[in-house]
Amino acid sequence: MSTIKSEPTVFVIFGGTGDLNARKLAPALYNLFLDGWLPKQFSIIGTGRTQLTDEQFRKNLNEDINNFSRSGKADKEKWAEFQKNVYYQVSDAKDAETYKEFGKRVEAHAAEWKVRPNVIYYLAVSPTFFPIITSNLAKAKLTDDVEHVRVVIEKPFGHDLESAKELNKLLAGLFDDKQIYHIDHYLGKETVQNIMAFRFANSILEPIWNRNYIEHVQISVTEQLGVEDRGDYYDGSGAMRDMIQNHLLQLLCLVAMETPVSFNADEIRNRKVDVLHAMRRFSPEDVRMSAVRGQYAKGWMEGKEVPGYREEAKVDPNSNTETFAAIKFFVDNWRWQGVPFYVRTGKRLHQSSSVITIQFKDVPHKIFPTEAAESWQQNRLIISIQPEMSIRLQVQAKRPGLDMILNTVDMVFDYKGTYTNQAPEAYETLLLDTMLGDQTLFMRGDQIEAAWDLIMPILSTWTNKKSLNFPNYSAYSWGPESAEALIARDGFTWFSLPLKNTKK
Ligand code: BG6
Repeated sequence: MSTIKSEPTVFVIFGGTGDLNARKLAPALYNLFLDGWLPKQFSIIGTGRTQLTDEQFRKNLNEDINNFSRSGKADKEKWAEFQKNVYYQVSDAKDAETYKEFGKRVEAHAAEWKVRPNVIYYLAVSPTFFPIITSNLAKAKLTDDVEHVRVVIEKPFGHDLESAKELNKLLAGLFDDKQIYHIDHYLGKETVQNIMAFRFANSILEPIWNRNYIEHVQISVTEQLGVEDRGDYYDGSGAMRDMIQNHLLQLLCLVAMETPVSFNADEIRNRKVDVLHAMRRFSPEDVRMSAVRGQYAKGWMEGKEVPGYREEAKVDPNSNTETFAAIKFFVDNWRWQGVPFYVRTGKRLHQSSSVITIQFKDVPHKIFPTEAAESWQQNRLIISIQPEMSIRLQVQAKRPGLDMILNTVDMVFDYKGTYTNQAPEAYETLLLDTMLGDQTLFMRGDQIEAAWDLIMPILSTWTNKKSLNFPNYSAYSWGPESAEALIARDGFTWFSLPLKNTKK
């Protein structure tokens, strides 16, 4: 049961009938309710163009929860209690009446609960609706109460640096900074939050967390899934915009950031944006040497033939969009000078897993005979974000026996073996934080712009110069050969954890 008490809250979910609400938001709210994190007085108002009654909407949510909740099918009694707080409002984002109606509903709750509730407007809609919805919320004076009203938006935060600046300008003109919550769901993942705990709550790491001891860092987020039914969105986006601009660069910031002075949201976000500012900008020559793109061809996945990217629904048959990207970054500051950060992500790859590998420098002098050290490996710290949730330190140790043979062994902290309770989903953490008014795990406008600024030279080069060899990797492989070459040139190989069943 919870220890933190959240205030009475009204959630208004734009895109109430959409996929994000079905798969993530509704199950997350329901699980927060089950675990006692929701306040006694709460209300969830789904809204969208579809004509639905409260009853029909509740029935849909019930099915979504049965299908997607980490806690399995909804319990009858609990659901009955929960659904009393769920409503639906048919809306037209362009129509002022829609917003008046929200206002009336919020006031009705305030009167009934005899308190000024928090109100969270969640924009689970296509970014084309951001300007109209946010402007209308402000116009209807629904967001004037800076202390109680928050607006949550989902990525993509712009399509490039210019459009991100425009969006930031729009939001800054309408709301106070502390009302704006840009969601990057990676930051809500339990294992991702643990990077900061692990780095800053253990004194043994800081002395070695730098260029003197660390040889290189790898951040690898690979997916077996293809673009599924999101071809129209993805074809205008690609791996750089969809994953690297946000999730992967945020992971990199957590690994590379300086120690914050306190656990204060802005202090932490300042330290993260420092990393983005310190990252080396790409010249056209750097793009050629340090950035690799790929697109999947058809292939076989576990006995089933899967289509290539250009054959997917709603994708241009001549598409130049990358479904894979691997980049070598540098962070130009004292701590990281000369340490490469290799980042890769892609769809339709061999394994679904997100792993950060920190490889330490080799011992300065080897005292063991060659026969003893045949399987010698440099020390590695492996932070596995998903599906395995673990932190491993790979070290050399003597294999038991009469002879001196060294083996690489893992010292492991595994969530499964250590904790019995199920980890919350990222969206549970992030929704709770919006209720509590804690922005630590949310992207700030300047971080978003700094990340765009960094990747723009790569994007422009790739847009201006179409790839001549797309598709260049087959489904279920580890991506294009050029990605192997990128890291092999420096004498390294991509690391992956052997996983038994990684299918998502
Ligand atoms: C989303 C991307 O932000 O993250 C998707 O738009 C991607 O393309 C997803 O599949 C990956 O998230 P997760 O939590 O499944 O690793």
